[in-house]
Parts: sequence; C-alpha cells; structure tokens
Amino acid sequence: MGKIILTGDRPTGRLHIGHYVGSLRRRVELQNSGEFDKVYIMIADAQALTDNADNPEKVRQNIVEVALDYMSAGLDPSKSTLFIQSQVSELTELTFYYMDLVTVQRLQRNPTVKQEIQLRGYSDSADSSRENRGGIPVGFFCYPISQAADITAFKATTVPVGEDQEPMIEQTREIVRKFNATYAPVLVEPEILLPDNEACRRLPGTDGKAKMSKSLGNCIYLADSEEEVRKKVMGMYTDPLHVQVSDPGHVEGNTVFTYLDAFCRKEHFAEFWPEYDSLDALKDHYRRGGLGDVKVKRFLNSVLQSELAPIRARRRELEKDIPYVYEVLRKGSEAAREVAAQTLSDVKRAMRINYFDAEELADLTGCQTAKYSG
Ligand code: TRP
Repeated sequence: MGKIILTGDRPTGRLHIGHYVGSLRRRVELQNSGEFDKVYIMIADAQALTDNADNPEKVRQNIVEVALDYMSAGLDPSKSTLFIQSQVSELTELTFYYMDLVTVQRLQRNPTVKQEIQLRGYSDSADSSRENRGGIPVGFFCYPISQAADITAFKATTVPVGEDQEPMIEQTREIVRKFNATYAPVLVEPEILLPDNEACRRLPGTDGKAKMSKSLGNCIYLADSEEEVRKKVMGMYTDPLHVQVSDPGHVEGNTVFTYLDAFCRKEHFAEFWPEYDSLDALKDHYRRGGLGDVKVKRFLNSVLQSELAPIRARRRELEKDIPYVYEVLRKGSEAAREVAAQTLSDVKRAMRINYFDAEELADLTGCQTAKYSG
C-alpha cells in the first residue's frame, strides 16, 4: 500500500520560524520527494475553534494567513491537497463514532491536553496569574479524538508534526487498534515523523523562553520584513555570562546558537563567513572566548534572511491574488471531502450502521423480510 501524509496547523496566527523548522520545511521536502502517493495539508479551523469559541473572526482571518504561509514556504497545490477542516463535515461524523472508543480518563491522561488545560486557565488549579475560565469546554477536551478522525479519514500512514503532537498520534493509534479490533480492519495506524534535530524540535523564542508564542512576543514570523527579522535577531538572548568579548562563552542554551543549529548549513559559511568552515569551528571559538555576540548575530541574520527572502517574495506575489488562494482551498476541500466520505462509508459499514446501502437492502429482502412479514 502507498504512503500518505496528513498534517496541519490551527489557524490562530501567522506561522513563525518555529513552525517552519518544526514541520513546514520537512513537509515541503516530503512533498517533493516523490515518496508519497498523497499529501494532505489541513488548516484545522474546527480544532482552533475548540478553544476560541468566542473568537471566530480570529480563526477566519488566519485561514488565509496560514494558507499564504504554506504556499510561500513551498507547499504546491499541484502536488499537495490543501484544505480547510470545517469544510469536510465527514470529519465531525467520524469524531462522534470514535468517541465511543475513548474514555474520559484516557483523555485526562493525554499529556498535551493536560498541559493545555493548565495553560489556558480551564482548570481550578490553573496558574493564578491567569484568568480562571471556569471549566473545560467539551469540544476542547475531545480534540484528540477529532485529530484521530483527521488522520484516519485520509488513511494517512505518516504524520509529520512537532514533538508536542506526539500524544495525539499515540492516541490516534490506540483508536485505530480499538476500532479495527471491535468492528473490522478498515483504519490505518499512522506513524509520527518528528524533526531529526533537537533544535528543530523545540525552537525557543528570541528571548530564550521555552517556546515561540504570540502572547510572549518572541516570534520571528515567516511574513516578517527583512528589517523586522534583523531587529529581532540583533535583540536576541545569548549567554548572560559572556559579558566581555574575551570571556569564554556557552553555546548550550544560547538561543543564537540554537537557531544556527536549526538553520545553518555548511554553504552558509562559504557565502557569509569564510573565516570558519563549520558550525563546530564557530562554536569552538565562541567557547574559547574572543568572539563577540554581535558578529554571531550578524551571521545568523544573513543565514535567516537567505532562507526567508524567497518565502517572503512568494508571499508578496500570492497576496496580490487572494481569490486564487481561496480557490486552491476550495478545490482542495472538495477533493479531501471525497476521500473522507469513502472512509466514512467504510466505517459505517464496519459498524453496521449502513442500513440503506444496497447490500443491506438485499439482505432484507432475503431472510429478514421473511422474519418480519409474518
Ligand atoms: N493539533 C495540530 C496543531 O495544534 C493541528 C492538527 C489538527 C493536526 N489535526 C491534525 C496535525 C492532524 C496533524 C494531524 O497544530
């Protein structure tokens, strides 16, 4: 059987370089590798609404932003199906049936859900600095099940995502096994595909905080201008112990070096800083002392700009034709819907809730009518 990719993002903001190295760059490579029969990329608006019920306008506006980020980063509608989750209503239907296979206790143990409940102020024991939002929306609580529907509807074999999504894929695999054992083996158990480099798995914010997040204001966005990127890079957190240029520096936990780990390739040295021939050589010098932060930041800026410039240029072009972007999503959603409808039909047959299918009706005219027609 062929290999199929499904992955996606919540449209709650523009995508930043954490999304890019964590998953988007890889997706583009996978799309172009020719190794996959199908690549589905989903804008998860319904999932975004599970904890933005009061802010549908934000979700709506970010659909096009995310689509622009996708296409400018290199996702190509002639090779990948780009679609909007809410427009494939079969996904909601699948979710409802999968709910029968998952316990409340199991959802409560999902580490990502657990953490998000704390972070979003849904639980009573939430961080007191946050508003207490007085309870967990049921839809939010169940989003891992809806994610299982997203993945299985397309019989995806491979789900390229960031590390935070690992518990979701594990839960999907459990649902698949349970479904197949209970009804009939119609669902495919997916594999997660994580970024291979530690820096890409969790790119910190420019302030050195654990994660890039819009609310912390520590993101570099794919859509940022050249000047915005430069300013953010020059203001980045480095090594607080590296006060004088001559002081020995630390590269671990030094955000500038973490970004270099995620973005820098050997060619960048030849192009921008021929005094060094590799990142290891640069790190060695920094550790020894005598290498100033400003120089390293300038290099990082050159590296980032060279990666982001073509993306930014494509975005500018695409922004001129927003109706085209919507047309891509409309067509993609239509194509996705056909595939999901087929899976839903397989699921219903496996669960024996396909009462009006021809085969079932044929059965009725055979034995059962005899039974009921006295
Ligand atoms: N949970 C993902 C995120 O927060 C988005 C998502 C929804 C997803 N459904 C998915 C990712 C299915 C991979 C597969 O970004």
